Amino acid sequence: MRMPLIAGNWKMNGSLALIEQFGEAFASAGLPTSVEVALMPPFPYLPAAQAALGGTSVMLGAQTLNPAHSGAHTGEVSGRMLKEFGVEYALVGHSERRQLYREADEAVYDRLLAALSADIRPILCVGETLEERDAGRTRDVVLRQVGHVMARLEPQQRARVTIAYEPVWAIGTGRTATPEQAQEVMAAIREYQAGFDRELAAGLRLLYGGSMNAGNAAELLSQPDIDGGLVGGASLKVDDFIAICQSAG
Ligand code: PGA
Repeated sequence: MRMPLIAGNWKMNGSLALIEQFGEAFASAGLPTSVEVALMPPFPYLPAAQAALGGTSVMLGAQTLNPAHSGAHTGEVSGRMLKEFGVEYALVGHSERRQLYREADEAVYDRLLAALSADIRPILCVGETLEERDAGRTRDVVLRQVGHVMARLEPQQRARVTIAYEPVWAIGTGRTATPEQAQEVMAAIREYQAGFDRELAAGLRLLYGGSMNAGNAAELLSQPDIDGGLVGGASLKVDDFIAICQSAG
């Protein structure tokens, strides 16, 4: 069956001191073995996070990567480099990347391929804006974002992808999608995937993201098609993040 994944996306937040605090807390937290946990700090903190979390089961993730392995790309970081620091997951297509850095579907696809070729598991982020939801376009928008990538992958590549559904209006706003709203979109994504392969669809891991916190995680995670969470703000508070991980177990 699908192993839940709770991924903490620190965005451009955190510090060396916070990394140390997480390392100590996770070393004594006794996380459920039935849950995978990943922490995604900003790039400069990866070596410190690798050291601090070394004795725990927490995995490392990156928030983005460049499509190229190396070369003249000032300011960018490649999957191969991330792999040297033990990175196992990478977000691609986060709505902040799509909106603030103009990453379109094609750029998201290129990054996802780069992750796969560096043997990093991509987490493809998708989600509609409030305007799109109000116009009744949620399903179309989300399935377009999913399809743009998934339709072009080989079956063995598809099997490596996790999808995070993050309604843009719920990110960082304190306004969470209801479990029913999230479930409806998750079910549509899984059904879309079943068009390629039913078995792969049954194994596809789907995360919810958008103001998930210690208070609402259990109810969201109890939905049949929600297999974990991509957590922003609440992943910066160690007790809250550990509580979310525990509620997935
Ligand atoms: P949030 O962010 O939990 O702060 O809403 C989630 C995300 O952007 O991944």
